[in-house]
Amino acid sequence: MLSSTISTAILALSIFASTVTGAPWKSPYGGQPKPRSPALSKLQLKMPATTLPPPTGLQLKFVGLGIGTQNYTCDNDTAPVGTTGALATLYDLGTRLNDDPMAQWKLASISGLALSLSSNTKLLDGYLQMSGYSKVLGNHFFTVKIPTFSLSKVQSTPFPLVFGKKNGTMDAPSTSCPGTKGEGAVPWLQLVDNGGSQGGVNTVYRLETAGGKSPAACTGQKKTFEVPYAAQYWVFGPAS
Ligand SMILES: *[C@@H]1O[C@H](CO)[C@@H](O)[C@H](O)[C@H]1NC(C)=O
Ligand SMILES: *[C@@H]1O[C@H](CO)[C@@H](O)[C@H](O)[C@H]1NC(C)=O
Ligand SMILES: *[C@@H]1O[C@H](CO)[C@@H](O)[C@H](O)[C@H]1NC(C)=O
Repeated sequence: MLSSTISTAILALSIFASTVTGAPWKSPYGGQPKPRSPALSKLQLKMPATTLPPPTGLQLKFVGLGIGTQNYTCDNDTAPVGTTGALATLYDLGTRLNDDPMAQWKLASISGLALSLSSNTKLLDGYLQMSGYSKVLGNHFFTVKIPTFSLSKVQSTPFPLVFGKKNGTMDAPSTSCPGTKGEGAVPWLQLVDNGGSQGGVNTVYRLETAGGKSPAACTGQKKTFEVPYAAQYWVFGPAS
């Protein structure tokens, strides 16, 4: 059923994509798309149920859809799989879904759908545009070995930035999208401030993961390789 939903979505998107080919996307405001920078807003969205430590006393500030890769290393066939980091673009889901009565249902399906489209930039962009998720918040990457969430496109000074460290982990639910080659979904995480976070944020939950998991062993793997993934990053900070 999921695959038929996805093929229907892909069909709709190909029609959409073909109508925009060659013509830059026109905003209804005319000219360039109107800048719509999310301020540090008070989001009302309800976080998916988890067994992670709860964000007690914190306020939800952003919900980002991360689309990118988890990077791994293997020295040889007998070495364990190592993690070298991740690289993802973070798209703003929270602003659009905050007052959407369908938000909870949509949130549960967005990561898998986005991942299934991510190998085709045109389809992915079409989906993000149509759904209202195309505004970029920033990027997720690793600073040396520290998971970093740089929401540098948010217009606020200083911009929101989290240097995180893992404080909680749980297996992704068995219903999670296993990824483009069935690798499995990376765990759900709670990351807390590792020092130096700024801009009113200090905690990030990685939820609703799709794909990205490493193979169990290095046998037959290249020295460095990437596994595509999508996830939602729920970003919290002290109440403001
Ligand atoms: C394989 O890599 C591991 C981890 O880097 C290393 O400890 C081990 O000695 C290597 N084995 C061979 C046969 O090179
Ligand atoms: C992960 O892979 C991407 C894409 O090749 C690359 O740009 C990035 O530098 C890699 N990141 C790490 C931490 O290895
Ligand atoms: C970190 O995890 C511990 C153990 O689960 C928990 O008691 C603590 O509240 C967590 N810290 C934060 C900041 O959520």
